Amino acid sequence: MHHRLLNLLGEQFQPSRILGEQLGVDRDQARYLVQRLVHEGYPVEVSKALGVRVAPGTPLPHLLAPRLRGSFGQPYRYLGHTTSTQDELRRWAEEGAPEGAVVLAERQTAGRGRMGRPWVSAPGASLTFSLLLRPRVPVALLPLAVGVALREAVGLGGLKWPNDLLAPDGRKLAGILVEAKAGGPVPGVVVLGIGLNVLPPVPPAAAALSEFMPVNRADLLAGILEELENQYENLSKPERILEHWKKYSVTLGKEVSIRTPRGEMQGRALDLAEDGALVVESQGGTERIAAGDVSLIGRLGG
Ligand code: BTN
Repeated sequence: MHHRLLNLLGEQFQPSRILGEQLGVDRDQARYLVQRLVHEGYPVEVSKALGVRVAPGTPLPHLLAPRLRGSFGQPYRYLGHTTSTQDELRRWAEEGAPEGAVVLAERQTAGRGRMGRPWVSAPGASLTFSLLLRPRVPVALLPLAVGVALREAVGLGGLKWPNDLLAPDGRKLAGILVEAKAGGPVPGVVVLGIGLNVLPPVPPAAAALSEFMPVNRADLLAGILEELENQYENLSKPERILEHWKKYSVTLGKEVSIRTPRGEMQGRALDLAEDGALVVESQGGTERIAAGDVSLIGRLGG
């Protein structure tokens, strides 16, 4: 019943009594259902004088749908809270969800980042979602393509290899996690996770997009999904992805310190290899780093 209420809410306040009438319950029961939504993590606002609404820009299904311009984002599940949207979407994929399916949660209790790290985001203040892909072409460049899509949609900042989106001052705005079900160049299922800090508060050393521009989360999500679809189609034209990524890079030409699965190394980031690896010049010669975590040494931190 409280999820039926969610579908009635909009960005304008409505009196609890009117909402209740549409559900066939009285005002007090309507208020109880509202409290359950708040408790589950949905950004529902209550005013004694005005009634109930969702925070402007909330990506409710009926507010997102009219903004979608492609097929990514359909079907769409919008949750107050979950452990990790990656797990939710993986389960849904096993039940047969199609490519383009998205799960977004306002709060994650076990959000995960790259290299086994936890991912923490403020409830109601970020875009924390996962997108399902069922690729037909090799996905080696997918992590870079997703970084490009995010940068294109957001319109500011730079990319740190492989795909962190950094604010103009070097603080981290967004992180990307690519999880594939089976190995090989064309995995059957890819669950792509994106965590983007939209509004404060943010974790230490991170940035919120709203510090740099006005943001409406539903508009932004629709824009990101559209760009993701564009860049996903570009996987068959790898040179385009590499070219765009290089344009937005804040890593190439810099002294970097890299934590790889094989240990720490330092050097100058020279170029991207055709497979998306980072080419680094160090004392020992030139090395290709296929997976790792880069720290930029110098003015830009993170
Ligand atoms: C990173 O920078 O380490 C990647 C962070 C990816 C976080 C997102 S939030 C949505 C999805 N669900 C998760 O548990 N992780 C990803």
